[in-house]
Amino acid sequence: RIPVIIDTDPGHDDAIALMMALASDRLDIRGITIVAGNNTIENTTNNAIRIIENFGRSIKVYKGAERPMVQILETPVDIHGKTGLDGTSLLEAKGRAEDKNAIQFLEDELKSTSERITIIAIGPLTNIGTLLAAAPEMKDRIDEICIMGGAALGGNKTPTSEFNIWQDPEAAHIVFTSGIPVTMCGLDVTYKSSLFEADVERINKIGNKAGILASEILDFYGKAIEGRGNKGIAVHDAVAVAKILRPDLFKSEMYNVVIDLDGKYTRGCTVTDLINVTGAHKNAEVVLDVDRERFVDFMVESLEKLGSL
Ligand code: BDR
Ligand code: CA
Repeated sequence: RIPVIIDTDPGHDDAIALMMALASDRLDIRGITIVAGNNTIENTTNNAIRIIENFGRSIKVYKGAERPMVQILETPVDIHGKTGLDGTSLLEAKGRAEDKNAIQFLEDELKSTSERITIIAIGPLTNIGTLLAAAPEMKDRIDEICIMGGAALGGNKTPTSEFNIWQDPEAAHIVFTSGIPVTMCGLDVTYKSSLFEADVERINKIGNKAGILASEILDFYGKAIEGRGNKGIAVHDAVAVAKILRPDLFKSEMYNVVIDLDGKYTRGCTVTDLINVTGAHKNAEVVLDVDRERFVDFMVESLEKLGSL
């Protein structure tokens, strides 16, 4: 089993990503660390606990950074609603997060084992950036950071910048220059992984706990993102989980990626040297293509399985 920590800010697409991770018996989820992004740290923490409790699991949740390293937090209530996960029938959380802070947990967990841990990061990179700024030697204990964030071309928050990287570019800069193998599942591939009507119908028909929650999520989130330039529903964060579990579904290349920190119009852009014009070190595996049909099959199978576990 792959030892993983999932760093997340749920979030509708985070919730589906978490369900796919919970469904897999190939992931050894050591903990879930929470970051502010889609909503405040209180709400994203609460949402993660509600999701885990919904499936009767006891994975520990650690509350992390409440705001980006430098800039202020701006939450996208127009997409994820005022709680960060509006539109579901999830119950109120019964439990609470661990007392230990997420960044401390990351450090302790990485130190506690000789195994190299994979981090699946599907929110702003604040927790991981903060950890690496304080304890850069932790890099040798991380096998890979598989990120949903950025794009080789284009953005969704600004014309050039994807939301997770835009929310905390300084943290992203630390991660991308850390020397840790970084996999970037950006908008290039997440848009290509979009769900269409027939896919949503398949999910609506599943009918178990996971299917019901996914249907509610796709209904709310699908309406919220309608008309925003991409056809279909891009369940961005699910792609990062699928990339770890089913690398055979994706095509990627190594490129040099730098984070723009100073651009007047381009701050938070993941500047990707697709033509190798800089000759600079290829620091990121950039995921550019997906077998969409099989990705959707995998999502459906995961939801079917989780609801019957
Ligand atoms: C990313 O931004 C968030 O709103 C989503 O949860 C996802 O992680 C997509 O740009
Ligand atoms: Ca997210």
